[in-house]
Amino acid sequence: MTIRRLPETLVNRIAAGEVVERPAAAVKELVENAIDAGATRIEVRLRNGGQSLILVDDDGCGMRPDEMELAVERHATSKLPEDRLDRIATLGFRGEALPSIGSVSRMTITSRPRDGDGGWTIVVEGGDKRIVGPAARTQGTRIEVRDLFYATPARLKFMKTPRTETQAVRDTVERLALARPDLGFVLVDEERTLLALTPEPGDEAMARRARLGAILGEDVAANSLAIGETRDDLLIAGYAGLPTLNRATSREQYFFVNGRPVKDRQLSGALRGAYMDVLAHDRHPVVALFIEAPPGMVDVNVHPAKTEVRFRDAQAVRGLIVGSIKRALEGGAQRASSSVATATLDRLRAAAANAGGWGGSRGAGPISHAAAARYLPERPSLAARGFAEIAQAAFSIVDAPSARSEAADPTPVTHPLGAARAQLHETYVVAQTQDGIVIVDQHAAHERLVYEKVKQQAAEGGVARQILLVPEVIELGPARVDALIDATEALAECGIVVEPFGEGAVLVREAPAMLKGKAVVDMVRDLSEEFLADGAAVVGRRLDQVCSSIACHGSVRAGRRLTVEEMNALLREMEATPLSGQCNHGRPTYVELKLGDIERLFGRR
Ligand SMILES: Nc1ncnc2c1ncn2[C@@H]1O[C@H](COP(=O)(O)OP(=O)(O)OP(=O)(O)O)[C@@H](O)[C@H]1O
Ligand SMILES: [Mg+2]
Repeated sequence: MTIRRLPETLVNRIAAGEVVERPAAAVKELVENAIDAGATRIEVRLRNGGQSLILVDDDGCGMRPDEMELAVERHATSKLPEDRLDRIATLGFRGEALPSIGSVSRMTITSRPRDGDGGWTIVVEGGDKRIVGPAARTQGTRIEVRDLFYATPARLKFMKTPRTETQAVRDTVERLALARPDLGFVLVDEERTLLALTPEPGDEAMARRARLGAILGEDVAANSLAIGETRDDLLIAGYAGLPTLNRATSREQYFFVNGRPVKDRQLSGALRGAYMDVLAHDRHPVVALFIEAPPGMVDVNVHPAKTEVRFRDAQAVRGLIVGSIKRALEGGAQRASSSVATATLDRLRAAAANAGGWGGSRGAGPISHAAAARYLPERPSLAARGFAEIAQAAFSIVDAPSARSEAADPTPVTHPLGAARAQLHETYVVAQTQDGIVIVDQHAAHERLVYEKVKQQAAEGGVARQILLVPEVIELGPARVDALIDATEALAECGIVVEPFGEGAVLVREAPAMLKGKAVVDMVRDLSEEFLADGAAVVGRRLDQVCSSIACHGSVRAGRRLTVEEMNALLREMEATPLSGQCNHGRPTYVELKLGDIERLFGRR
């Protein structure tokens, strides 16, 4: 074995393997170069999902012929003026994007600098450079990339459908466009214009909001809270969606660090922390957050595609994200929970964790809802005769007609989950058992029951379905339609019959009988989003996912009033259903407190 130096083209192809993983990555590099060149308008055109052609045209500073020649050489860059990696202020800095792309495609660059007297063209084919000579051109640069990966057939095999690749390009351009609302962006796929964004006027905050609306939709902009805080030399700005504006995936979470779009586990982790108390763990908020830090505090040179960063003080960044979002969500109001309520909750938590369950399986987890604090008495002298009575004495019961006294209700308390006594906040059913009280989350519990039913029906040859009188047309965009249509079989097993309908929409012809009205549309939308996020990897889980989604959309919501009969029926059904102690997202469906625990809570023992 002899050690040898690899030829430059091979080195570039190896680099290309990491830097230009797919057409969207090439688009990202080219658009970033245009932004670095000071362009105000950037146009991207695609053919065949970018595989046949990617064209990026800008009105930036352009290049002289000698600069163009150098630009396609490895490690040639104009962007590290002091050779310092800790002062990076541009999106590019490695000088490897153009040589990498040129080594795996047929690339033509035509450029004219600001004060140059004409344009110039050079071509790089599979790494071989050729000067073509003068060319007509207004100021700026136009780069055509044809036959991407023709020189690396192995990579070619990994290309997804043109539609999927186009969708990825769109996502990439949208991210960059969110980062720079002051610039115009156009994206044309074949002859179809997918994006046409003009520069947003006004100051940075105004422009950002306008761009957010243009890309994510006006409802996102309208249902988001402005964030803006600084701590030491860190700054955070942007928009955080209200908890009610949530999604099945984290796709609509955008992070930018010093203007660079990044995907970062730590940042998404901080987001989970910020929304922990207000969002179910399987739902995802929509956010666009811009973090600014001195270049020396961030290492941007940690990822081949430059989509990740490392912070010198990650804890400070996390703290700022969690803190600023929580403060925004609380609307500036002081924290509601007094120290008494918090202390009481802690004791309740401990009690719930120690409580023995019925029938061997303990349904009760710790109370997960911070809101539970609000249901607890503030006057520890109240006697512990039953939660309904305590509640009645201490608070206004919202739902007086559904609360019954022990004497009036014939349901025996000897059932494992007891007899329903009240519904609080139209969300929690309170029941009395022989030696304690049970608090049930009506939505979580019902969801579990529906889930078990749907799964059983699916296993026994099909979920009861109804043909919709008027089929629903749902606009999803091409990528989600693809993802949904790929799962047609699993959907049909669960009673959902869909078919493609024109560009980017599906038609729902049949739906599970237990779903009514808008629930069908919501469910299909959520599922398409989940499937898209999963990719093809988890096809085996599809049936579960569909059942779970039907259950979620087909069960009683929090906020619906129940009669005592309905509440008791729910309790009896829970007792008869396996695993009913938790909903299918793993949250507890009920909490049981023994009288002994309650007595301890009030200092009676
Ligand atoms: N659209 C453009 N307009 C003007 N100059 C450009 C343009 N694209 C590239 N250049 C010049 O070519 C050089 C090489 O580009 P390339 O993308 O390969 O490297 P880079 O941007 O410096 O670093 P990185 O590899 O991190 O992207 C750039 O430094 C810049 O000077
Ligand atoms: Mg670059």
